[in-house]
Amino acid sequence: MKDDTVQTSDALQHQFPLEGWGITENQLDDWHHLLSETLFALGNGYIGLRGTAEEGNQRTAADSLNGSYLNGFYESESIQYPENAYGLARTNQFMLNVPNAKCLTLMLEDETFDLQQGRVDSYQRHLDFRTGLLTRTLQWTSDQGRSLRLHSQRLVSFENKHVYAMSYEVTPLNFSGEIKLLSAIDAAVKNITAGDDPRVGSAISGPVLHKLEVKQENDISAFLHRTHNSGLSLATAMQNHLQTESSYTSSLQQGDDKLEQQFTIRAVQGQIIKLDKFCSYFSSRDYPAASLLSLSQQALGKVREQGFAQLAASQQAYLADFWAQADVHISGDAALQQGIRFNMFHLLQSVGRDGKTNIAAKGLTGEGYEGHYFWDTEIYIFPFFLYNKPEIARKLLEYRYQYLPQARERARQMSHASGALYPWRTIDGEECSAYFPAGTAQYHINADIAYSIKLYMDATADMDFLLTQGAEIVLETARLWMGLGHYTRLPGHDTDSFCINEVTGPDEYTAQVNNNYYTNAMAQMHLRFAADIVRQLQAEHTEQFAELAAKIHLQADEANAWQRAADLMALPYNKERGIHEQDDSFLNKKVWDFANTPKENYPLLLNYHPLVIYRHQVCKQADVVLALLLLSDQFSLDDKRRDFDFYEKVTTHDSSLSTCIFSIIAAEVGYQDKAYDYFMQTARLDLDNTHGNTHYGVHTAAMGGTWLGIAYGFAGMRIKKGQLSFAPVLPVQWQDYQFRVHFQGQLLEITVNQTHVEYRLLRGTALQFQHRGQSLQVTEQQAICKISLHQAELIHA
Ligand code: BGC
Repeated sequence: MKDDTVQTSDALQHQFPLEGWGITENQLDDWHHLLSETLFALGNGYIGLRGTAEEGNQRTAADSLNGSYLNGFYESESIQYPENAYGLARTNQFMLNVPNAKCLTLMLEDETFDLQQGRVDSYQRHLDFRTGLLTRTLQWTSDQGRSLRLHSQRLVSFENKHVYAMSYEVTPLNFSGEIKLLSAIDAAVKNITAGDDPRVGSAISGPVLHKLEVKQENDISAFLHRTHNSGLSLATAMQNHLQTESSYTSSLQQGDDKLEQQFTIRAVQGQIIKLDKFCSYFSSRDYPAASLLSLSQQALGKVREQGFAQLAASQQAYLADFWAQADVHISGDAALQQGIRFNMFHLLQSVGRDGKTNIAAKGLTGEGYEGHYFWDTEIYIFPFFLYNKPEIARKLLEYRYQYLPQARERARQMSHASGALYPWRTIDGEECSAYFPAGTAQYHINADIAYSIKLYMDATADMDFLLTQGAEIVLETARLWMGLGHYTRLPGHDTDSFCINEVTGPDEYTAQVNNNYYTNAMAQMHLRFAADIVRQLQAEHTEQFAELAAKIHLQADEANAWQRAADLMALPYNKERGIHEQDDSFLNKKVWDFANTPKENYPLLLNYHPLVIYRHQVCKQADVVLALLLLSDQFSLDDKRRDFDFYEKVTTHDSSLSTCIFSIIAAEVGYQDKAYDYFMQTARLDLDNTHGNTHYGVHTAAMGGTWLGIAYGFAGMRIKKGQLSFAPVLPVQWQDYQFRVHFQGQLLEITVNQTHVEYRLLRGTALQFQHRGQSLQVTEQQAICKISLHQAELIHA
């Protein structure tokens, strides 16, 4: 079992009909609110709205989380350690549940519309990946026999990050009389309270927003709030637009935590009443606090003029462009097809693209992990954007650059005289990990960021980024290894090795070890990359290099020192077994007693003290196996197979970041069944709630890992000597699959069917690449290159 928490995953599964471009709920499901609110969540990388109904969930509010979130908008609080120590993270930041502007209460005479009362005659809710609309269509009869039809639509604009819109249509079917529509902003919202599960979060549960100002004029109502500790201001505004042939009156109401516009309509049987509601959020993270209310007014005025239909059309156009670049198509497996598109859609909805925000472990769909950004971004999610929306990938790197000053400061706190250390988890650049053995000790975050910059440069050759931001990040973070590691003579060696002690690698079931293989191998890559950049810039961009060197006080001998440390890096290897050791001590530990561990004791982290876990040979997730993927060229196929065989036996996959990596290496070493099984465990992880905790938010790393599973796994995609290279296989379960890749300004489509692989240049002029070591090219004139899957037979079309 995986990330299970309170309920069993069986009790928390949704069965959606299989369809290619959406998810549909055909029956009102009264038990799974928390889960479906996550799955039906909408977002645009800035605003995230859980999929709660407009009227809320009145009877079972405890089973519902009416969350609205803004990427990067957080409250902070100091972390209280009963036993303190120097240098521990001091402040936690958590993504705040902000005022809820979705609220619409519907009243038919004296009865309130509530799906838990009366009778639901028909019901459907649909999330459409192509239109970006969340639609609910239902027929309902009240206890007193009044029937109505309701058709509501909601979108969170991709075009304007501050705006979302709703369209709400009510038709009285068997009565005429008074209908009231109460459209509100509810500021009495709370974050969830902490439980025992470290993955949920520890945010305080009380209200943290302090009201500064209220504005209600014409059809616009707005709150201006400020957070207590982080001092951020937020304007939440709505504008309502009622369209009906019936007569009506409207009034504005103000409560302490609620702003409301009430419409009282003399409804006529059969006549549609339509309310369009436009909502906006503006915060002081983007604009001066004093301008937030007027910005809200302007933005709402503009979208009100455009109208819901126009916003919906732009939303669809944005998504059409996204899918034209990024769609992954699979024939022969409808469940998988649905899962893959669901994942990509949620990634697009979750990712910050303003250079100031990033992508949280749970996106903007829930409060798990408190809205923090982790290494998940660089290693699991970044490649998806790099190859599908490179401009967003750059924004993710710009986010890291923005917080380089905080990373420098953190390095000083951690006793490093120079360099920068990125936080393990954060929103605003400050280390928020209160449990350092599985947090700050994961120094590999520095190398993960450098790795993504290297990948970015390979895929885009964007020198502007390297010169203005990338090089500075890579060099400053590389310096940290020099302060962290030291040279020593390891037993059995006749020369000194560069050793890095007291770190935690990706596997969080093994903490504070010496020479974690992954960390050291990635640090080696990082140091070499940094030294290469110095050489390249010195030779080709002398002036900019001199400026950078002066800015960061780079010494003449630093690059050579990096090179030497990389060349002498300790990389634990066990000759007898022919495997890479996860760290210096891993193989000496007692193997976890898997045979006698009951299923319900997984994930181990919820059932055993960390020390019990740490002293055993047991992995939460891919560690050495991840190095086999990221540093692919450094290992032979036999190495990979032996490592895979060994680590598979001791890995629980308790982390959702694990199975995708095992799938990719299994595909590479020829274990096709395993590759498929691990892939399936990743691809529908949230849709099937297989880790049992999707109600706290989707797992964005696994979503990115799904794309990696196709591209890196089944298609064997790697970058070799600056070129894309493929080694595709087709799982027997599928008829074909197809995906696209942006590379150096070109867009390539790869289709693999039972007999052939077809490479097609969709955009650009020419691209050279490799297919199983064979050099191929597609050009504008000869856009398709078809090659037999089994023999190296090339057919040009
Ligand atoms: C994993 C980490 C990951 C974090 C956030 C943990 O369970 O072990 O590798 O960064 O979740 O997704």
